[in-house]
Amino acid sequence: MSLREVCQNMAEEIVAWRRDFHRHPELSFAESRTASVVAGILRQLGLSVQEGVNGHGVVGELVGAAPGKRVALRADMDALAIVEETGLPFASAVPGVMHACGHDGHMAALLGAAKVLAGMRERLRGSVRFIFQPAEEIPPGGAKGMIEAGALDGVDVMFGLHLWSEYPVGTFYTALGPLMAAADMFTITISGKGGHGGQPHNTVDSLLIASHLVMAAQHIVSRQLDPLQSGVITFGQLQAGSAFNVIADKAELKGTVRSFAPEVRDLLQHRLEQTAASMAELYGARIAVDYVRGYPAVINHEQEARAALAEAEAVFGKEQVGIMQPNMVGEDFSYYLQKVPGAFCFVGAGIPEGPVYPHHHPRFVIDERALPLATEWLCRMALRYVG
Ligand code: NI
Repeated sequence: MSLREVCQNMAEEIVAWRRDFHRHPELSFAESRTASVVAGILRQLGLSVQEGVNGHGVVGELVGAAPGKRVALRADMDALAIVEETGLPFASAVPGVMHACGHDGHMAALLGAAKVLAGMRERLRGSVRFIFQPAEEIPPGGAKGMIEAGALDGVDVMFGLHLWSEYPVGTFYTALGPLMAAADMFTITISGKGGHGGQPHNTVDSLLIASHLVMAAQHIVSRQLDPLQSGVITFGQLQAGSAFNVIADKAELKGTVRSFAPEVRDLLQHRLEQTAASMAELYGARIAVDYVRGYPAVINHEQEARAALAEAEAVFGKEQVGIMQPNMVGEDFSYYLQKVPGAFCFVGAGIPEGPVYPHHHPRFVIDERALPLATEWLCRMALRYVG
């Protein structure tokens, strides 16, 4: 039987796992039932299983008959605080919690790969590590703690995937370098001195300073960043003042900074803080910048990304596989790729006859035909190194 047939024959079982996870979603850092289901299946397959890694993380190890490389494959486990509106027969049984990002499918596809590869154990040279990670959705994320707990020790190469509703089922995309941006957040608080709208000379106008600051920050990307690099500074919120004839004593700005290269990320943060400090000096206000770093950018390793594309062509067909533009969604797979070579990829899961709802939407659905395809690709990635 071909690998394709083996995976397709497992489709029903993979879908059943996915629906079970879907029906019993758990929030980030609270994936206890999910973890015990995952661990139970991995144990049944004869893998050595470690539970309670960084909270609810589960690591399964499949050791082949002969020594060789170690490949890691990862799925994330958490759901979101969303009230599900899909009306599916296996919709969430937990009020206010929903697998609205496809992580239920990631786990099911990876369990499928564990089962297929466990059946080939005698033919494997090397080992495959199955990493089920908690809390991808909420910074600081689960990946960092998994690494600190040793999940990557001895790993030579690593792959992960995200099902993606905005790509139709049967397609596969990744990038050879930057794939997903670093997404940071900031709050800038300007404390001036309020007063009468007709007597500005007795005040420090925080609203006016905030306006200057928003304008000045536009120089950072347009004039201080190499035009061949990419980055964004967006102010999404500005709050100041309470009446038309009163000078505001306080202003608060909130925004986000997105970047790919670490040096760009440092530059944007540093310049933003510097701009705020000089505004404070210039206008005599107190300005505090609270800059919070989200996940770093997901940067694929070129050689491994090419390997991922090559295996994907065998699964999805050459026409259905391609290079994608980086997107600005955050993903903590970035931490793994800072430690070991590997690649993160997008597996199309959109229902061709639509409607397509984006990830994190109450009506988010996936086309389950993507699951055995994802399983097949995961198996191929492992076999490429230990087959
Ligand atoms: Ni996700």
